[in-house]
Amino acid sequence: MRTEPAYAKLNLTLDILGKRPDGYHDLRMVMQSIDLADQVTLSPREEPGIGVTADLPYLPRDGGNIAAKAAAAFFAQSGVPPVGLTIAIRKMIPVCAGMAGGSSDGAAVLRVLRDLYAPEMPMEQLEEIGALIGSDVPYCVRGGTALAEGRGEHLTALPPLPPCSLVVCKPACSISTPELFSLVRMKKLRCHPDTAGMLRALEDQDLERIARRIYNVFEDVLPRRYAEVFSIKSELLGMGAMAASMTGSGPTVFGVFRDRESAARAAESLSGQYAAVHLCRPI
Ligand code: C5P
Repeated sequence: MRTEPAYAKLNLTLDILGKRPDGYHDLRMVMQSIDLADQVTLSPREEPGIGVTADLPYLPRDGGNIAAKAAAAFFAQSGVPPVGLTIAIRKMIPVCAGMAGGSSDGAAVLRVLRDLYAPEMPMEQLEEIGALIGSDVPYCVRGGTALAEGRGEHLTALPPLPPCSLVVCKPACSISTPELFSLVRMKKLRCHPDTAGMLRALEDQDLERIARRIYNVFEDVLPRRYAEVFSIKSELLGMGAMAASMTGSGPTVFGVFRDRESAARAAESLSGQYAAVHLCRPI
């Protein structure tokens, strides 16, 4: 039996460069892992096949779960003879939140299977297997701070986000990622993140400049019914956040704080209104 943490991610930037002939979009994103994690436990079993259990009743338990898809892809691509597995997921990352919770569970499965059955496999090959399952999975296999380009699978390691506190708040609404992508009209995107400036600010470990460059183009196309995203952003900024932004395709919003005390006060205040509020750190 092996338990592996599956860390959530935040987008420090998310830019859409264009629509591709394969229906996906070319992206440029600066991603950051945070210490909010699901626990993914793999137990080999006598019975063949892959079973999934989860502490949330509405998560898929069959082959439709991304964790099961990851295990199936690992055995299909690695040449390792398939073994029977039970995958137990303890969910801490909000679901359908823009934090790559499902992708991270799949990535945790890939890391454990590589460790157990194919330790000689290069991490790049594991990331390539991840790309077959979902666009965010390669990044989740690697974690940390990274630039993700293409569909999200071309990764470049970056210097870490300097120490800071992060308040993560998910409103009750959920947004479908394909729906949000379908609302993007490239010519109408008014504003793009300064990704090059973000990379320089990370290189210089300058939290002030990093904070000023945090931006997600999806905020520009959010339908009106997601106005809560903007009210959470305003609240975080009003409570001293250096920056506040939606992550991924949302609707989760995060605020960056220099000191733990003001972040804790902001988290405390938001938890009166929202069920999913977390005080986190980058990892
Ligand atoms: O790859 P994944 O299954 O996570 O993507 C979910 C959906 O998000 C895709 O079906 C597509 O609609 C959209 N997407 C996109 N461009 C990307 C990544 C995702 O259009 N780079």
